[in-house]
Parts: sequence; C-alpha cells; structure tokens
Amino acid sequence: MTDAERMRVVEAALARLDLDTKARLLAGHDEWALPDLPRIGLRSLVFSDGPIGVRGVRWTPEDPSIALPSGTALGASWDPELARRVGRLLAQEARRKGVHVVLGPTINLHRSPLGGRHFEALSEDPYLTGVLAAAYVAGVQDGGVATTAKHFVANEAETARYSVNNIVGSRALRELYLAPFETVVEKAHPWGIMSAYNAVNGPTMTEHHHLQNEVLRGEWGFDGCVVSDWMAARDTVGAITGGMDVAMPGPQTVYGEPLARAVRAGRVKESLVDDAVRRVLLLAARVGLLEGAPPAVPAPPAPIDGRALAREAAHGGFVLLRNENAALPLDAPALRDIALIGSAARDARVMGGGAAQVFPERVVSPLDGLRGALPDSVRLTYCPGTRLTDELDLAAEGFTLRAIVRDAEGHVIGESALPTAEVQWSGTDMPEGVSYETLHSVETVGTFTPRKSGPHTFGFKGLGHQRLVVDGHALYDGEPDAPETDDPLSAYFTSPIPCGTVDLTAGKPVEVSLLHIAPKPDEAHNQAVVYSLAYHEPERDAEELIEEAVTAAAAADVAVVVVATTESVESEGADRTSLELPGRQDELVSRVAAANPRTIVVVNAGAPVELPWREEVAAVLLSWFPGQEAGAALADVLLGIEEPGGRLPTTWPVCLADAPVTQVIPEDGTLHYSEGVFIGYRAWQRTGTAPAYPFGHGLGYTDWSYERLNVKDRTVSVRLRNTGSRPGREVVQFYVTTADRRIERPVRWLAGFATVEAPAGESVEATIELFDRTFQIWDEAAGQWTTVPGVYAVEASRSITSPQISTTLTITPA
Ligand code: BGC
Repeated sequence: MTDAERMRVVEAALARLDLDTKARLLAGHDEWALPDLPRIGLRSLVFSDGPIGVRGVRWTPEDPSIALPSGTALGASWDPELARRVGRLLAQEARRKGVHVVLGPTINLHRSPLGGRHFEALSEDPYLTGVLAAAYVAGVQDGGVATTAKHFVANEAETARYSVNNIVGSRALRELYLAPFETVVEKAHPWGIMSAYNAVNGPTMTEHHHLQNEVLRGEWGFDGCVVSDWMAARDTVGAITGGMDVAMPGPQTVYGEPLARAVRAGRVKESLVDDAVRRVLLLAARVGLLEGAPPAVPAPPAPIDGRALAREAAHGGFVLLRNENAALPLDAPALRDIALIGSAARDARVMGGGAAQVFPERVVSPLDGLRGALPDSVRLTYCPGTRLTDELDLAAEGFTLRAIVRDAEGHVIGESALPTAEVQWSGTDMPEGVSYETLHSVETVGTFTPRKSGPHTFGFKGLGHQRLVVDGHALYDGEPDAPETDDPLSAYFTSPIPCGTVDLTAGKPVEVSLLHIAPKPDEAHNQAVVYSLAYHEPERDAEELIEEAVTAAAAADVAVVVVATTESVESEGADRTSLELPGRQDELVSRVAAANPRTIVVVNAGAPVELPWREEVAAVLLSWFPGQEAGAALADVLLGIEEPGGRLPTTWPVCLADAPVTQVIPEDGTLHYSEGVFIGYRAWQRTGTAPAYPFGHGLGYTDWSYERLNVKDRTVSVRLRNTGSRPGREVVQFYVTTADRRIERPVRWLAGFATVEAPAGESVEATIELFDRTFQIWDEAAGQWTTVPGVYAVEASRSITSPQISTTLTITPA
C-alpha cells in the first residue's frame, strides 16, 4: 500500500475526530507516548531515545538494550552500509520494546570540540554526516520503525540551549547546518524530524515558520511529523503556526486543551490542527498503528545478532592515529606479558551522558575482552594507574537498595526495588499507584556492605531537599543550590555532591538512607523525580597507584594504557571547558611510556582530547565511546583479528587554543556563528595551523598505492592496490579544490568517499558520483543555490592532507 492509499484511511479517521480529540492527539499523553484513540482504531504511538540503542519507556535497567557505539564512532566508520544495518538493529530493538519512533540520529555538526553532545553527533562535515544519517534513517525505516533526526537545527552546543538565539548566516545555514537534514529528507524520506530547543536568527525552532514550513516542508518536500524536543514547545499559537506537529512530553504542554482553546478563541485556524493531525495519523499508519492502513513494512525483517553488530560497529569506528614501527597489531604468540593500565580498562566508558544513555544488556570491558582473547601463554597484569576524577560515582557494588514513597502526611503510598542507585522517574516510571501529584518524598533505603575497611565517602546527585544518613551518622540535611539555568531538564544534569565520610569495616553491612523531597517545580519544568545516592570507596595513595602501573609496564613486553573522559565531562546538559584528560592521566601515560617503549594508548573519549604525550608512545588508538562490546572489539583490533576501520570524522586539535571555534557560550542570550562556513577542516586550512591529526586520518594494518584516477562526466573512479602483506580495508576520500579564489570557499572540501577491501597484492576500484551540490554555493543575495563554474582538481586521498592522485574537471555554467 502506498502513502496515497494510506492517506485515504487517514482522511477518513480525521473526519471522525472532534476538535478536542484532535488537539489531544498532538500532545504527549505522558513522557513518551501519544494517546490512543480506539474509536478510530488508533493505537498509542511510543517514542524512545536513541540514538545508540532503544531505551524503552522506562529509565531503568530492567529491560536492557543493545548499546551501540556513539555518533562520533559511527561517523568514523565512513560506512553507510554499516549505518544502515545499525538502523535495522535499532528497529528490531524498537519492535521488541514496543517503540515506534526512535529519537535519533543526532545530526548537528561538530562546530566546536567544546560542544557537550559532540560525542552524539557524527562529523564536522555536512556531507559525511548527511550520507551516514540517511543510511541510518533508511535502516530504521527498513524495519518499519520511524526516526526523528535531531535537533533541527543549529543545536551545536548545550550552554543555555533552551533560550539561546543562534545567529547563523544563510550561507552557513544552508551549506553546513541544514545540509545533513536536507540529505536525510532527500535520500531517506524520513517519517519524523525533531525540532530543537534553540532559536535561529530570532524565532525559536519549534515556532520557526520559515525553516519548518517553508524550507523543510516547502522546498524539500518533507511529509513526516515534526516533534518537539522534550519541553521545547512553549507557545501554542507560535508552535502550530510555526509547523510543529507534536508537543512532547505531556500531559502538561502547549497542545491538548490549550490548542483547542486557541482554535475556539479564533487565534488558530482549525485547518492547521487538521494538517498536524494528518501528519500524526500518517506516521501512525506507516508504523502500523492505524487500523485499516497496512504498515509500510508488513513483517519484521530477518533478525540481526545485536552483539555481533555492536562489536563490528565498534572496531569499524576505531581510528588508529599513530603506529610507530608497526607496534600494532600485537603478535600474541610472541608475547609473554602485557600490562593493561587505566581505570577505564576495567570500567569502560561505553556511552556519553544524557538522553543518549541506555542500559546495556552487558558491557565487555577492555580487561574482560583482552583476558578472553589472549592465549594462556600471555600473562595479563592489570593496574588502575590513576583515578579519573575525584567525583563520587553512583552507589553500585555492595549496595542493596529500595525506594519508599510517602505522601505529604508521611503515609507510605508506594515502594519499588532499585536495581541501581539512580532514581529517574517520570510519569510511567512511578511505582504502582503513585503519581507525581500525590508523592511528597522518596527515600532510598537499604544496606551497604563494604569491600574495604577505612573512610568511605557518601553523597547524592539531584535537586530538592535531601537527608542522608549512613550507619546512624547524619551526613546532610538541606537543599543544594539550584543551577542558574532555564533548561527544563536541568535536574538530570547535576554533579554529585560529597557529604561526608564514615569509617566502615570490610564485610560488615551498614544501613543507608537518602530521603529526597521532590521539588514541585512550575509547569515549565519536567515532572520527574530525579536523584541518586553517590559513593566513593577509600582511596589508595595516588602516587602509589601510578608507581604500581609504571613498575608493571617496565616488566611487560607491551603496555596498553586506556585513558578516558568522565560522564560529567562529556554529557548532554553542559559544554566542555577544557580538552584535557581528567585527573593525572597525562602524567600516567608519560611515565608508563618512559618505562616501556612499546606503550599503546587507547583513547576512550567521544570527542577530541589533548594528547600531549602522543609522540612519546608507540601507538594511539581511538576507540571513542564504543558501546557494550568495547573490550571484545578492542581485543580484535589489538590482536589484528580485525583492522581499525575508522578515519577521523572531525579534525583533532593539538590543544584547545588551536581549535578554530571555541565560542559556545552566548552573550546576552545570543551566540553568533561568526565563523560562517569555516568550521572544522574548512577553518583549519584557512588558518594554516597544523592539527594533531587531520580530518580523514586513520591508519590500517596494510599499505595502499593509488594507481589511476579517471573522471568521466560526473563519475570518478580510482584504482588502488593493497601493497601490504595482509587483506585490508581502505576509506578512499575524494576532495575537490580550486585555485579560483573569487568566492570565499574552503581550500578543499569532501566530495565523496567509498570504502573498498582487497586481499594482499590485489587491486580494487573505488567509484563515486559527484553531485551538483559539490560545485554550488548558497548565494545569499539571490537566496538560492548557484553553481560556480571553473576548473577543479579532484583528488583521491587518504585524509584531507594526503592526496594520493588527482585530476582536473571543468564545470561549465549551469
Ligand atoms: C534531548 C533529546 C532527547 C529528549 C528525550 C532532550 O533533552 O535533547 O535529544 O531525545 O530529551 O529524552
């Protein structure tokens, strides 16, 4: 059945709805779902985050998810076919969890490495982002599930994201920030898009008539649903006239009753409501929720092995930045001893913080992965080396906890087990019989059995009144200062507050209680209970930890050091202020490298970090946030079972001061994208500053020679040979450049890419089609795309700074 036929069912259903019901359908019924309307055969449409897995409607680990690598890792794969399979797996997960719309992919650009959600986005390049995102969306839709590519548009930073007005010139908007969305609409025909929190050149995005109605729908022909970011909608008339279809979450939001009232008062035309309802019903029909309208995909596609794909996607995105004297891959049978160093080698960071978090069904740490993969003849010594941060962690090992809910009179009105110390309850997560209105306090109670004797530190995360008692010691009774922000979800992004230490004895259980009195915020804030018990066990001496690691490294054949960022460094809700690795990790690497020349550093971070020791070590492997199979994939790559498949999707600076764009903090509510089209490599080439590693860089385990390049019409093909001694995969990148400087353009820009594989000694051909857009700019004065005729060089390259072979192409006036 085609959409046209589906529309007939939609029209018939629409005709049976009165104004109040229509208005109600456009607002969340709760945190994650729209209402059902049995009278017209409509079931409830369920949304869920996204983008690295499908969390489901409860923010708890009871129903875990396959956790895939984060956006930067997928960007680094340069592999649309992989992105498509990732999408299909997400559809499978969504179906398993009763979810119909996956809130992703995140396709804002890497404007600045300081952006807090950099890890979630794919690249600094709009073309690479668009091609991968379109494949991801197509993959999810192959499985009959919808997506909302997000956040439309220009949501490149977190600071004041709710209120910031981003001033973006029309050329930068078209050539950079809108471009990936345009590609997704053109190539994948998406069923949804998410409208961002921020404003762009004045109007806030949920009310942006020009960008949502005129550009997205009018020019590009998008026929899906525009869904607000969570609590982004703030004005009924503005949103419905600005093209926003669905206000999430509910029930308290600008649609529903307020929308029906606005129509009755003559402030909104009912036809606008009808248009939005049509789009919601079409979305519901496409995913199979509207009776009489067969879904776009009638039966679930063939099942995918989630663990296997998570592992493939992880090593497919690993980027080998440096590999002196072929330090990698390791020749396991020739090794006796490996020293594995770093807190993150045992507690891998597999994802970034915020809405992108899912509860993984398992996590394979580098320690588990290597232990499992190494032959018995190799001894593996593990040392933490250093703590990443002094921040408390969530209470976990040794704690047995439950939550008791009371009303204002102190009567117990509900109880629930707490599988983790984290309470994040919105409407659907509340224990049975409890509602946000009736609950007054929630108490986390239980026991803690320490592993070590000594001073244990306790604290909490969250806003509102807290009372913490451990083993009879009252450690806190008060209310922390609320952050100065208008972010409606700020309660989710607070840092842990340490409250005091208690001397405890290993193996002897003690009682713990954290009482939380939920703040009753105004309507603009999210109605959720968000707080957690935080904890840290007695510390070993910091110097002793480093010494132990250095001694282990000196005695081993190879030292592998895993360095990482922490959750509070890379998370939704805040931008970064520094690119330094937290804690004493830089010192740890330098000291280990001085003790063992075969030191391999694994960088477990979702976004660029400074690597001041990078020339001191034999190899640097970037694993990003690799998802649940982190350690298995790492072992595959370290031991040469798989190649590191990734190439940098973003330029890696030496230090923050070199990064071309560092302004992410608005002044007086405004953030100027004053660099215009010059972000990422477009900017680096202009300033001439050398980055640590350029865009597109990444080494494999074999060598390639580029033999022949042909351009015929718009088809470019290059023949290349694997000149190494093992099979390999190469990401062939095509850039164009021109000597014509009459129009301010980047020195060179990405025009296409293709991945090829070849056995040792064999040659293979990579072919791409050049698109018109490659030779166009957005003419600001005329308000349209215009082709820039002239002579262009087309280069086949291994990164933006290493062209291998080139030819010329003449573009004639359109
Ligand atoms: C994020 C979105 C997310 C939504 C729902 C918002 O805070 O910006 O990316 O999909 O929450 O969790």
